[in-house]
Amino acid sequence: MSVEQLGERGWYMRDGFAGRAVALAALERARGVALRPAAIRRQRAHDASVRSDHTTWLDDSPLHPCFEALRLELNRTAYLGLTRFDVQLARYDAGGHYARHFDAFPGSDNRRVTAIVYLNPDWVPAHGGQLRLHVEPPHDVEPLLDRLVVFSSERVEHEVLPSFAPRFAVTAWFYGPAV
Ligand code: OGA
Ligand code: MN
Repeated sequence: MSVEQLGERGWYMRDGFAGRAVALAALERARGVALRPAAIRRQRAHDASVRSDHTTWLDDSPLHPCFEALRLELNRTAYLGLTRFDVQLARYDAGGHYARHFDAFPGSDNRRVTAIVYLNPDWVPAHGGQLRLHVEPPHDVEPLLDRLVVFSSERVEHEVLPSFAPRFAVTAWFYGPAV
């Protein structure tokens, strides 16, 4: 079962996460939202040499109920005690990338699990923008519509390879109990 792989190797992938209609509704919404150049979390500053996507936080979206169902599933099957999540929409334009990084730094916050859903119905390899997971062996995820990738925010280093076409992703970061 895919959730077990999260504990064993730190990540898993699932296609058909929200269902095509919901994913397309999320894309439609994403296209209408105003985005800003992304800040780098640790520095709270914008540095296009590290990441050149545009982002915004979403309080609500067609994907929120799916993320809540995922939170409950992870708690039921992996006993993670995830309490809440933040959701960010990101768009990479041609030339956009995000250098190798972790989403959480041990001790500095309690982001535990990252879940990303891609919203690119027409993606082809020439568009680039794969998510590279620096696991053993490294694994590239193609950012296809309604594909979910889940990984440990602390354990899995990752990057977004240069994108050559507009690329939408919605990321949920799940938090553990407040410490
Ligand atoms: C991030 C990130 C990966 C992706 O926003 O922290 O690593 O595939 N995104 O969009
Ligand atoms: Mn990341």
